[in-house]
Amino acid sequence: MRLDLVVKNGKVVTESDTFTADIGIKGKKIVKIAQEIDDDAEETIDAKGKYVMPGVIDAHTHLHMPFMGSHSVDNYKTGTIAAACGGVTSVIDYDVQQEGETLHEAVERKKKTAFDQGVAIDFSLHPGVTQWGQETIDEIPDLIKNGVPSFKVFTVYGAWQVKNETLLKLLDVTKRYGGLVNVHAENDDIIQMLNKKFEEEGTLDPLHHALSHPPEAEKEAVERLINLTNYMDSRLYIVHLSSKMGLEAIKHAQTQGTNIMCETCPQYLFLSTDNFKEPNFEGAKYVMSPPPREKEDQEALWTGLKFGFVKTIATDHCPFNFNKEKQNGKDDYKKIPNGAPGIETSLMLMYSEGVAKGRITINDLVRIMCTNPAKIFGMQDKGSIAIGKDADIVVYDPDAKWTMSIDKLHMNVDYTPYEGMPITGKPEVTISKGRVVARDGEFVGDTKWGEFVKRHLDY
Ligand code: URP
Ligand code: ZN
Ligand code: ZN
Repeated sequence: MRLDLVVKNGKVVTESDTFTADIGIKGKKIVKIAQEIDDDAEETIDAKGKYVMPGVIDAHTHLHMPFMGSHSVDNYKTGTIAAACGGVTSVIDYDVQQEGETLHEAVERKKKTAFDQGVAIDFSLHPGVTQWGQETIDEIPDLIKNGVPSFKVFTVYGAWQVKNETLLKLLDVTKRYGGLVNVHAENDDIIQMLNKKFEEEGTLDPLHHALSHPPEAEKEAVERLINLTNYMDSRLYIVHLSSKMGLEAIKHAQTQGTNIMCETCPQYLFLSTDNFKEPNFEGAKYVMSPPPREKEDQEALWTGLKFGFVKTIATDHCPFNFNKEKQNGKDDYKKIPNGAPGIETSLMLMYSEGVAKGRITINDLVRIMCTNPAKIFGMQDKGSIAIGKDADIVVYDPDAKWTMSIDKLHMNVDYTPYEGMPITGKPEVTISKGRVVARDGEFVGDTKWGEFVKRHLDY
């Protein structure tokens, strides 16, 4: 068979195995995996000494999202170019329903935005439910049927804050029709009480953002969500879990048989409360909700990832410029737009700090960044190196040594939280559906290449 692309001699990684093989690609698909492929091919990539792993699925991004008086500053074009350079081949972006908008309209709006702006890799959407009428609940079966099976709600953020009644209805309808509810879990009353206290005391610097979101607020919301999920005999996915306390509650529920899944993000593994104390308002760079916490939380999350209590890594990529949007909160942390950049750096951080330092194996990495997101969110063609899957592949150089710096990255933002960090390993080639889209840290793809992926949960 004449092939389009062969990736030769690499160490192929799946969630359970690592073996040396050649991979043959025709069109958008993996069609051959063998010890040696000698078919003619348009292009051959020599991956000797490199890992050949599935492209990363980042199941939590906010591209061009209106939020706290600004838009997150990566649009679909810049965000997906950066993603491709970082070894990400699919994103599932949050698509928050705007006032008066139906969920169907929200999906169509964001798809149009993506195709108008340009999208370099495949994408899908989780609609964020913020309009509470029964008519919103009634839309869900049709969305699930048409490939949009996961929905986001927030327990914080003013008008976006979900009521228990809506949550119960969402748990019910998603269970009956094959969907999943994703939740941002923090107790808003605790946060508002502390905001008021700090306002009265006049302590409005970035550190007080972290202090106004204690881990107890996450624990309380997680426990409530577990109770509601149990009561409805449904299932739930908690996004951006940050604390040991929250994780303890989830572990307990999982061992009791509750179908509670959770993700964490690199920022909760690598950043801490100390970052908020950086001088000259630099603590604003780390203002996100929930905030990064302490060393013991980081350690608990690593263990949770290793042993499968934490199912996935996603980035919650929601960038705002330090020298622009973040300055809105110079005098009051409550006005600092919440969020940080991460879409491009997650694989490099997780490899360098996780695999190279022996906290997780390369197979764990593939499980939590590729295979589990595909399984949980119903992307059956993605997340694994196997015959018949989309040829979404990263050739990863495990030996590259370099220093993280915003100058070397492609995200449309003026900082990375990881500036100056020594990094081992780097994506050498990113292949999206059979086509090389990034090589040696540069984008070589096409921003008309990304397609909308319809998803179906099969569990
Ligand atoms: O601070 C954060 N996490 N910003 C993005 C919105 C969200 O809560 O996911
Ligand atoms: Zn959130
Ligand atoms: Zn988010």
